[in-house]
Amino acid sequence: MDTSKLMFKDGLLDGHRILVTGGGTGLGKEMTEGFLKLGAHVYICGRRGNVVEETAAELMEKHGGTITPKVCDIRVADAIDDMVSEIWADGGALTGLVNNAAGNFISRTEDLSIRGFDAIANIVFRGTFYMTHNIGKRWIDEKKTGSVISILTTWVWNGSPFTVPSAMSKAGINVMTQSLASEWGRYGLRFNAIAPGAFPTKGAWERLSPGTSADGSGGMTDAIPMGRVGEMHELSNLATFLMGPGAEYINGQTIAIDGATYNATGGNFYQLSKLGDEQWDAIRAMIKGSNEKDKAARSV
Ligand code: HXC
Repeated sequence: MDTSKLMFKDGLLDGHRILVTGGGTGLGKEMTEGFLKLGAHVYICGRRGNVVEETAAELMEKHGGTITPKVCDIRVADAIDDMVSEIWADGGALTGLVNNAAGNFISRTEDLSIRGFDAIANIVFRGTFYMTHNIGKRWIDEKKTGSVISILTTWVWNGSPFTVPSAMSKAGINVMTQSLASEWGRYGLRFNAIAPGAFPTKGAWERLSPGTSADGSGGMTDAIPMGRVGEMHELSNLATFLMGPGAEYINGQTIAIDGATYNATGGNFYQLSKLGDEQWDAIRAMIKGSNEKDKAARSV
């Protein structure tokens, strides 16, 4: 059941202008829908123009309101500046930013090339900083308040074998969240993060659990005390709570939403230690297939 109607008043986010990076799919799409339903004007960006356009059209048809799709590769600082300038010209300052865009795949670290490391670190570590820095500077210059939520994982606390570039990068963004809350809190700017456990989405599952079903079946729930994966609206509700009015004193926090998995079983990929060469070859081939398909659809 979608509980957002019970938790939040209609119009809670009226007047809010929120950018969700990677808002065309997965968790980003879910948060976009949650913000839209409560009255926000939502901007979404991604590398595939047709994906962000279709998501915008689908959600506006369903709920009304306004979503503006943008094509942007967050690894390119100039592209971010152009996009954010267009958004500002379109109706003034944003009120919120959700750093949701990410890249990840499972691999033995000894099998990673430098380009493989960079592909992930440039999106998650650098791109998230470029975006936050660009928008934060505008807020400070214009004396506006603003709220940033970054989507991390619980590996920021204990690391994760077989996803080392992602774990390192997201840990860096965790520290960015704490640091900027301290440095820019005096400007009325807020920086919080959400650390989701298992929320099966197509993009993540094809790269983190290739060959298993994205509905969470297939044995992975054994490691989760609550015996189930997360429901998308549960994550969206937390993002709305952090973004909405009334939670302004929360600053510099990373909140896990993982059914106690991190506490109970660590919530990372240690269990892959038992895989052998053949299995890793097969995994790599499956992930490459997904990457190639996505790449063919990219506009930038
Ligand atoms: C080893 C691999 C690989 C694999 C790619 N590479 N896949 N190496 N094993 N399975 C290497 C390539 O060989 C190449 O290096 C380098 O990475 C760059 O590959 P490209 O495909 O050219 O990269 P690019 O087009 O920039 O794509 C970036 C990407 C891709 C990260 C590789 O997966 C992507 O765009 N992902 C976006 C969506 C996504 O990942 N979603 C999941 C997020 S989940 P060489 O040296 O060969 O040239 C998440 C946390 C979830 O963030 C937490 C859940 C609990």
